[in-house]
Amino acid sequence: MPDMNTVEEETRRGTASVGTSPEGARSEQEASRWVRSMFGRVAHRYDLANHLLSANIDRYWRSHTVARVRDVLKRPGARVLDLACGTGDLLIALEREAGRRLMGSDFCHPMLTGARTKLERGRLKSVLVESDALALPFPDASLDLITIAFGYRNLANYRAGLVEMRRVLRPGGALAILEFTQPPNRSFAAVYNWYSRNVLPAIGGAISGAPEAYRYLPESVRKFPDAPELASMMREADFEPVEWEYLTFGIAALHIGRVAPE
Ligand SMILES: C[S@@+](CC[C@H](N)C(=O)[O-])C[C@H]1O[C@@H](n2cnc3c(N)ncnc32)[C@H](O)[C@@H]1O
Repeated sequence: MPDMNTVEEETRRGTASVGTSPEGARSEQEASRWVRSMFGRVAHRYDLANHLLSANIDRYWRSHTVARVRDVLKRPGARVLDLACGTGDLLIALEREAGRRLMGSDFCHPMLTGARTKLERGRLKSVLVESDALALPFPDASLDLITIAFGYRNLANYRAGLVEMRRVLRPGGALAILEFTQPPNRSFAAVYNWYSRNVLPAIGGAISGAPEAYRYLPESVRKFPDAPELASMMREADFEPVEWEYLTFGIAALHIGRVAPE
């Protein structure tokens, strides 16, 4: 639990955020349901919209993430979970690097169906599990590596998500969070924010048929803790050290938190 000073400080800075809060959702359960149903509606066009809207930069972000977790991924027998794996792009990149079966999980069935198709097409072996990131079906200290790409921002409770991921990680394990963030340069942020409020919902909406999904995206990034704040939340959840870096002018950030070895 954060102490009162932390909560007051966050409230003063206007950054207190329990979790994602789509318009109209009045509770964490409603927020979760809204997110799951929204991804269900865009799943069939998710990959196309993703690659087009990011001009394929998302591929680089995922391959960079794989490179940064290679030390744990390549440990013999390491148990690896790509959480909120969606249609499986990061899971596939991780399996190709590891050369063995890993696990992916998500709470949205149509996104997992997309992942299943791609795994089969690539003759890959990873196992898919349908589950909520806030209640993982794994025992304490049973995994070595968790990755989560563009999923963490959608959780209905950010601290609870970190606590749950920490619970299932073993000593010596690692958590990698790849997520959109607020670019630190104000001029660049102004241009980027204009793009994400105006161009992104128009194109994303036209491709997916669900403009609300692409209006939610910039709004959820705006409300999401900034990169230094996410790093301190990870430290509070008992990850140490936590290293992070901005990617592509700070459109995205990669955080890696370690669990102390025994
Ligand atoms: C933007 S997509 C990212 C998918 C994939 N990781 C990628 O990089 O393309 C976010 C995914 O997070 C999943 N998600 C959001 N909240 C979740 C939760 N509480 N539990 C499990 N999955 C969740 C959604 O269903 C969706 O598939």
